[in-house]
Amino acid sequence: MCGIVGYIGPEGAAPILMDELSRLEYRGYDSAGISTIEKNKISIMKDVGRVKNLYNLDGIDDLTGTIGIAHTRWATHGKPSKENSHPHQDNSKTFSVVHNGIIENFHELRNMLEENGYNFLSQTDTEVIPNLIHYHYSKLQDNSVHGFLQAVRNCCLDLKGSFAIEVISSLFPENMIVVRKDSPLVIGTCEDEKYISSDIPAILSYTRDFYFLNDLEFALLQNNKATFFDTNLHEINKQTNNIEWTATASEKNGYEDFMLKEIYEQPTAIRETIGSKISIDSKCNFEELNFTKEYLSTIDKIYIIACGTAMHAGLAGKNVIEKLCRIPVEVDIASEFRYRSPIVNEKTLSIFISQSGETADTIAALKLAKHCGSKTIAISNVIGSSITREANYSIYTHAGPEIAVASTKAYTSQVILLNMLAVYFSEILETSDKDTIISIKKEMLDLPKKIEETFSCKDSIKEFAKKIYQEKDVFFLGRGIDETIAKEASLKLKEISYIHSESYAAGELKHGSIALIENGVTVVTVLMDKSLMEKTISNVQEVISRGAKTLVITCHPCDSNMFDEIITVPYTIQYLSPILAIIPLQLLAYYISKEKGLDVDKPRNLAKSVTVE
Ligand code: AGP
Repeated sequence: MCGIVGYIGPEGAAPILMDELSRLEYRGYDSAGISTIEKNKISIMKDVGRVKNLYNLDGIDDLTGTIGIAHTRWATHGKPSKENSHPHQDNSKTFSVVHNGIIENFHELRNMLEENGYNFLSQTDTEVIPNLIHYHYSKLQDNSVHGFLQAVRNCCLDLKGSFAIEVISSLFPENMIVVRKDSPLVIGTCEDEKYISSDIPAILSYTRDFYFLNDLEFALLQNNKATFFDTNLHEINKQTNNIEWTATASEKNGYEDFMLKEIYEQPTAIRETIGSKISIDSKCNFEELNFTKEYLSTIDKIYIIACGTAMHAGLAGKNVIEKLCRIPVEVDIASEFRYRSPIVNEKTLSIFISQSGETADTIAALKLAKHCGSKTIAISNVIGSSITREANYSIYTHAGPEIAVASTKAYTSQVILLNMLAVYFSEILETSDKDTIISIKKEMLDLPKKIEETFSCKDSIKEFAKKIYQEKDVFFLGRGIDETIAKEASLKLKEISYIHSESYAAGELKHGSIALIENGVTVVTVLMDKSLMEKTISNVQEVISRGAKTLVITCHPCDSNMFDEIITVPYTIQYLSPILAIIPLQLLAYYISKEKGLDVDKPRNLAKSVTVE
């Protein structure tokens, strides 16, 4: 949902900003813009479309300033157009601003500013910010940089909603102010340079040392100095955090697309996420949690809350936690949970899953659960992300940066982490016998090798993709854990191929949806749970009788004459089956998208991180 970057240092800012921006484009790609300061004058260049369009703008090479801010947009207020693109400036052209988030009270602020003589050129909520800064600055009797800071702070106190903001001013050409509230922003630092970004990967090739801001903390940045202030503008100390990710982790490294690279990174992501937490001879070790039997015995319900793919990982988590720990688990969509007045109290343990750690609904749901007295665990892939700073406890997937909008390695890493958590709880609570736990651990440790073996299905999947890429509808079926895999496979297909797809619990089909099955329609069925296989096969027979074309994903022997295509993945226990079964289905979505000539990594209307409601 929009990406913002910034630079201040001895180098020309424009090329660095464009490089940062192109790495951040997965956050939005409707329009892009850049603002620098040359000879105490603000320059702004922007255009609709992709970041690469900026390179063709007349005069872009004349931007020689060493301080600058830039933006790539995912439109919320106002259509994608040059006027609505960021950066925005105030009427006097003194302050230039990029913003990620939503200003909920922009109508009333705009009315107030219009009454005070300000004009607006765009339909955006953002344009109130530079004008409001100007409004406050002109009321202050302080022309020092502290006055600039004070004006930005007073403006932020007037704003309702979420924002990450960078501000530069022609009056203070060697200073930049950044602030965030409920929207992501990190500050990278090295010697005499500061790099600002919505996400870490965009600036990893420049630095691995980062400052993280809490809500309504302000950073005043100069080349060689970063000074931090709380909401009352009292100076505060901040330490840098070193991030282990390497710069090459956010490059394509020879792959055609990030999504394909990330699919192939899954063995490593699983291995890294397991780390040293699982071994056959000792108990699963989550030092970050340090839960006692006494505490876990008081828990009468676990909530798992997330959005999209992360929520699908949560469904796999429910299956294993309920079976191993005998605690009821409810999985909910964050945007629903937060408004349903959920029954949460100190006996509830709430787990929030978010790859980015910045999803607005998930963060809001977490705050609600905490407010109701529940202990909260954040599962994220990004160290220092907002969700991890809000939660009582944080545990991490170690999937490395995920750049493609369609989540792949984050999902499988989340599923393995939830399985590890289930084993951890169960070992403390003594709710499962030792042999069961040992066999799960062995299967976990074997998974990376089995994922490698699963990749051998690539050619068959590619061929199947060629057969069905022009279809309008595809259906996914499964029972039990297989239905959760079908849900994720269906989401993956629709988001990158734009083919309409639905997933159904196989037994539910007869209750209405089978009316949609007609000659030639493709039905993909997941058959990983042996105990439910016969039942599901009967349902597949029903769609075959109505003319459906069938693809089956299984880890069990199956009569290959029955279906149009069978992909057999290595055997694993049903708790871990989402990790193996999803791989051919991620590849199916990928190859269909490629066959259609679409932008796999940046599908239309989507953005990697959903930081607005
Ligand atoms: C996955 O392919 C999606 N693009 C999307 O559903 C995503 O999983 C969801 O927006 C949640 O994101 P998060 O994990 O960063 O919170």
